[in-house]
Amino acid sequence: MKYWFVFGFITSVLILYDCSKAETRIIPELSKFEVVEPPLDFHLSTVCPSGLKLEKGFCAIDYRYVPSLEKNGGLGQTLPLVKLDPKVIDLGRYLFFDPILSGDKQLSCAHCHHPAYSLSDGQKQSIGRGGIGYGPMRKNGVILKRSAPSLWNVVYMKNLFWEGRASHLEDQAEGPLYSPDEMGSSPEIIESRLNENSDYKKMFRQAYGEKGSKISASLVIDALSTFERSLVSFSSRFDKWSTGDKEALNTEELLGYNVFRSFVARCAECHPPPMFTNNVFATIGVLDSKERDFGRETITGQDLLRGAFRVPSLRNIAKTAPYMHAGNLNTLEEVIRFYNEGGGRGNGAPSDLRIHWHVRKMGLSKKEISSIISFLNTLTDETSMPKFPKSVPSGLPVALEFESFQNRSSIK
Ligand code: HEC
Ligand code: HEC
Repeated sequence: MKYWFVFGFITSVLILYDCSKAETRIIPELSKFEVVEPPLDFHLSTVCPSGLKLEKGFCAIDYRYVPSLEKNGGLGQTLPLVKLDPKVIDLGRYLFFDPILSGDKQLSCAHCHHPAYSLSDGQKQSIGRGGIGYGPMRKNGVILKRSAPSLWNVVYMKNLFWEGRASHLEDQAEGPLYSPDEMGSSPEIIESRLNENSDYKKMFRQAYGEKGSKISASLVIDALSTFERSLVSFSSRFDKWSTGDKEALNTEELLGYNVFRSFVARCAECHPPPMFTNNVFATIGVLDSKERDFGRETITGQDLLRGAFRVPSLRNIAKTAPYMHAGNLNTLEEVIRFYNEGGGRGNGAPSDLRIHWHVRKMGLSKKEISSIISFLNTLTDETSMPKFPKSVPSGLPVALEFESFQNRSSIK
């Protein structure tokens, strides 16, 4: 059985009710995703997810629009080829949605990187261990320091996490999995649980052959990383326009793109196409919530990089509010107003920050601000949104129905 699951009115009411207690917050339109009944025995798929195409048994990213960017005015860099095994992608998908990986069996990656919230969670700062629920409804647990980035195009991120403390997905995954504030697991917990699960045993053998006959934490991380590499977004209206479909953007959106790359706004200096990030670290002076976050300085020890964060990609940005490492800007309009006022310079950032010279008072008009927002909306493409498995091999409840969390104390 297969059906479309679209979050409806009831969910929105729950979210609004939950947030009204704390503060008013604008939740962007929820993303659509498909919920599917897994096949018998969780037999792994040999079909590539959408956005990828099968080439000699592997899935390659289908840049229908991106490679020709270079021919059309030299917009970008060439993107390297990525080849992924469809069975490993599918195995990684089940692991991503399965709370079995967390110490207390309550938390899956999807709780904080949820399809309804475009692979983020709609929270200012994510809520880890001890929390109930998922996405913006999640509450009562340990409040983490930062907001959850969406996982779109992580395959092309040179630096992972806001201050770039990891550079490979394989190193990154150990962060949430083993951090006591997040999933609170360990390689031993993961290995003993999965090796006792007959479905996972079959799935690992199907995905990895002989190598998969003993499930190790590093294979789990390999599968999760392979799945994450399949989360690509390169078929937005902007991509169509930039490869020759001149009807794909309207006048307002084109005005926005021109302001975005103008010498006044200078957004494209740091957020250039095709990834809309230059993959470096910059200090723009976003205010921290409570504690100070020294960002990149904590990694390199250079005070020049105090409060510097990785320039995030802007693909699917209209879907992943709230914004910035501290999640303190609720809408794209707030973001652009922040830049327009000179970033941290105009917003009371601590005086020991060396704010990047591109970030200065801009004097953009209302019309220019709204045109940038219209342009940013053309970067939306969620065709590779993963299918949400209605159930997972552990039998534990997935991050779907709100009610299942109300009754969670009965789940052992
Ligand atoms: C409790 C919520 C939570 C859970 C559960 C969680 N994450 Fe995250 N994730 C975050 C937050 C918050 C960050 C940013 C942390 C930082 O930058 O310091 C993050 C960052 C990431 C990043 C880096 C993205 C980037 O662009 O830099 C990846 C990849 C990621 N998580 C994957 C996963 C995977 C895989 C799992 C499951 C094993 C997982 N996450 C579980 C909240 C969560
Ligand atoms: C000097 C480089 C630089 C310039 C110029 C710049 N940005 Fe950014 N941008 C960043 C950095 C760094 C962050 C992350 C900062 C943080 O989290 O503290 C960011 C974050 C963002 C975010 C939030 C992303 C997310 O996932 O939360 C948006 C939206 C954004 N920028 C849009 C723009 C727009 C629009 C402009 C032009 C008006 C612009 N940026 C100019 C470096 C820059």
